[in-house]
Amino acid sequence: MKKHIVLLPGDGIGPEVTKAAKRVLEAVAERYQHTFTFESQDIGGAAIDQQGSPLPENTVEACKKADAVFLGAVGGPKWDQLPGHMRPEKGLLGIRKQLGLFANLRPVKAYQQLLHASPLKPEVVAGSDLLIVRELTGGLYFGEPSERRKNGKEVVDTLAYQKEEIERIVEKGFESARLRRKHLTSVDKANVLESSRMWREIVEEKKKDYPDVTVEHMLVDAAAMKLVTNPSAFDVIVTENMFGDILSDEASVLTGSLGMLPSASVRSDGVGLYEPVHGSAPDIAGENKANPLAAILSTAMMLKHSFQMEQEAEEIEKAVADVLQARYHTADLHMTNSVQVSGSELASKVIEQLSTSDAAENIMRCYV
Ligand code: IPM
Ligand code: MN
Repeated sequence: MKKHIVLLPGDGIGPEVTKAAKRVLEAVAERYQHTFTFESQDIGGAAIDQQGSPLPENTVEACKKADAVFLGAVGGPKWDQLPGHMRPEKGLLGIRKQLGLFANLRPVKAYQQLLHASPLKPEVVAGSDLLIVRELTGGLYFGEPSERRKNGKEVVDTLAYQKEEIERIVEKGFESARLRRKHLTSVDKANVLESSRMWREIVEEKKKDYPDVTVEHMLVDAAAMKLVTNPSAFDVIVTENMFGDILSDEASVLTGSLGMLPSASVRSDGVGLYEPVHGSAPDIAGENKANPLAAILSTAMMLKHSFQMEQEAEEIEKAVADVLQARYHTADLHMTNSVQVSGSELASKVIEQLSTSDAAENIMRCYV
C-alpha cells in the first residue's frame, strides 16, 4: 500500500521522538512492502521561529492532503511570553480543529514489566487496561469569549457545545466500548455544570442504541480518585475536552511513565493525527534521553486506525512489549536489573525486535 505521511516534529523533544517514529514506520514499510512517503512541516514554536505563526497555512494544506499526520510535541519556555493567539499550543489546537479531529483516543495499559515503575502499588495497577475518549475540538479550550476584561480585573473562558458535538463523541465512546469490554463510563460535572447535564441527557438517549454496552455516569472529581484507587474498574471513559486532558495525564502514571502513552485524534472517516500524549519536555530536549515509546506506539495507532494495517500495528506493539521484557528502557522509567539506554538506542531495539518477528514473513507468504 502507498501512503503519504506528514510529520510535524514541533518543539523540545518533539523532533527526537518524531525521528524514532519515522524509523519504525520505515522498518514496517520495508518488512511489509508498503511505500510510505514523508514530508516534514513546521508547527508550534518552530513554526513561530521559521514562519512567524504557530500554524502556517502551508502546514494546514499539507496535512489536509496527507493520508495521516504524525506530531511530536509543541511548546517551551522560549515562547511562553507570547500572547495567547501566538502561543505554540495554538498550533496544535488549530490543526486539530482545521482537520475536524473531534475524537482523541488515549489507551492506557499497564505493562506487566512496568508494574514496579508505577508510583502506585503494583497490585492496584495490575490488570488496568482502559481507553480515554476525549472530546477534542470543542468545550472550554475553544469557547468564545476567552479574554481579559475591565483593564485586567476580570477574565472569562467559555465552555460551549453544540448538541451534535456531544452526540458524535458520545457515539464514539459507545462504539469504542463495543470493540472492547463493553463498559462505558461517562465523566462529567453534572452536579454543577449545565453543559454536563446536557451531556448526561445525551448519553442516556444514546444508550438505547447500544443495549450491549453497560453505562455509568461519574463525576470528574470521583473519576480522578478512582483512577488511582481502582483503575482496573474502567474500560472506556468518554468525556469533555478539559476533563479528558487532565484525566489522561493522571492515567499515564499507571503505565509507569507519561513517556509510554500514545494517542490518536480522529474523525469519522478515519483520517487522523497521531501524537504521544507527553509534551515537549524542554528540560531534556536534544539530549537523546526522551522515551520514544509513546511516539512509536502512536505509529501503531496510525497503522490500525488510518491504514487498516492491524497485523503491522500489532507487531509494533509486541516489539515494544518484548523490548521492555528484555528490560531495556530510557531514564524516565525506573526498573531494576535493567539496561538504561538512550532514546535512539531504545528505538533501535524496537526495530531489531521487529526484524526478528516472523509475522511479516507469514503474511507475505499468504499473499503469494
Ligand atoms: C495534550 C496537550 C494539549 C492539549 C496542549 C499542548 C494544547 O496538553 O495534547 O494533552 O491540552 O490538548
Ligand atoms: Mn494534555
